[in-house]
Amino acid sequence: MMKTDVISTCGTSGMTFPGFSSPALQSIARLVATTVLLSAGLAACGGAGGATASDAGSLADYPAAATGTPPGASARATAAAAALGRGVNFGNMLESPREGDWGLTVEQRFIDLLDGGTFASVRLPVRWSNHASADAAAVIDPVFFSRVDSVVDRLLDKGVHVLLDMHHYRQLDGDALDANERSVDPAVVEVRFLAMWRQIAARYKNRSDRLILEPYNEPHGSLTGRWNDLMARAVGVIRRDNPQRLIVIGPTSWNSAADLSKLVLPNDANLILTVHNYEPFSFTHQGASWVTPPLPVGQDCCAADQLSKMAWGLDVAKAYGVKVGYPVFVGEFGAFSAADSAARQRYSRAMRDLIEARGMSWLYWELASGFGVYDPSGAGAFRADLKDALYGQ
Ligand code: BGC
Repeated sequence: MMKTDVISTCGTSGMTFPGFSSPALQSIARLVATTVLLSAGLAACGGAGGATASDAGSLADYPAAATGTPPGASARATAAAAALGRGVNFGNMLESPREGDWGLTVEQRFIDLLDGGTFASVRLPVRWSNHASADAAAVIDPVFFSRVDSVVDRLLDKGVHVLLDMHHYRQLDGDALDANERSVDPAVVEVRFLAMWRQIAARYKNRSDRLILEPYNEPHGSLTGRWNDLMARAVGVIRRDNPQRLIVIGPTSWNSAADLSKLVLPNDANLILTVHNYEPFSFTHQGASWVTPPLPVGQDCCAADQLSKMAWGLDVAKAYGVKVGYPVFVGEFGAFSAADSAARQRYSRAMRDLIEARGMSWLYWELASGFGVYDPSGAGAFRADLKDALYGQ
């Protein structure tokens, strides 16, 4: 029996107890059973965002959405993918181990940048895993949940589409932990992923249709062979409370277009596909501290061979989307600030044009950190040339 079956009884009031004949004995039995359930933590009745250790369970408690005959995208999914337009990632904020660890917090002045009409959409990366209990139930810290609520709601109030993801659950990919990141028992890593989605999906079930959920950023490493199964279970658990909400699915190898054909799509019309494109990598990640070995700086862009590398993944993504009948957008691209600034502008404009020539929406990585289109120092200002290359005429 699945734990959810127990939880759905919401305690013992509807239960009868064979062998206890009189109403008085039934009451005593019910009292005993309630005590047992409570001490086992099983009487919480599920509730939106109200997971407890009782919800822990195993993968069997999170059945996968059916696959095999994906129907193609609904008109709503297609329209929303187009409406993402030219967007931006609010990166290095809520997906750092603790907000602020990577030098940025979500500030109201960042959210107010949406008033200018530059960005049609915002992707909000969130490291839920470091703000949830270490056990299988992965109960999300209520203070952190409220913080995310506040950011999501202020973004939605600006009228844009908001992509809320799960980012950097390092153990899920088998990666080394970051500083200030807590490890969990390997036995509960996967079920925690689903337990967190259960809570997130329940929490936001009544938000605007402009809120779109993305189960996981850039699956790779040890997640590669597990992604189709876990992704289908994530779609299943999101659908419990959000039968119609749009869900973004990306392929393995860090959302590489080359892996799109390995995705096993759920039979669900309210899906949108995503890819990331950091080609040419030796240009976009030159001087990036998180790339080993570090790539030398001084690389230029965009010669013909570089442009064809950039276009290749976009062509693959476009063709795949047409084949399966789902829209695809580019959820991340960008060049780190160690590149020459004129070259970054050329790259940014070229990538934007290549994506848009294929009829796809995109979100630049990212707003105000190492790739930032906005300089947050002092009073803050857009990097005008980069902003123009990306969002200008
Ligand atoms: C990662 C960032 C990284 C960026 C470019 C993103 O998906 O989350 O940490 O800076 O890709 O490498």
